[in-house]
Amino acid sequence: MANITFTSPAMKKDVTVYATAGDCHTLLAVAKEHKVPINFECENGECGSCPVRVTILANKRPMGMHFTEKEKTVLLLAGKLTRQQIEDAENNDIPPPWRLACQFIVRDEDILVEF
Ligand code: FES
Repeated sequence: MANITFTSPAMKKDVTVYATAGDCHTLLAVAKEHKVPINFECENGECGSCPVRVTILANKRPMGMHFTEKEKTVLLLAGKLTRQQIEDAENNDIPPPWRLACQFIVRDEDILVEF
């Protein structure tokens, strides 16, 4: 139900994969399945080694998101997000530009993933 396009200087060309609705996979799981070389270590939202820039491509209002306190803290400490961006995500459902690939749950929306 969703096209996920991965782009990175670490890859020769962009890779677009199709994720089916209800998979509920993390972005990292989808990347690994398709041999997209996103860095990772803990896979538990703690080490901060898997930040990715996510752009929602669908021309519709962003859906509510799964965004845990742990992920917010890691991205804030890494300097990837500001407190304002986190507040916007919490209060206004504005998707933050950076997420942790191991915590981002793939949903029914097309996204561009840069790393
Ligand atoms: S792999 Fe450690 S935070 Fe994602």
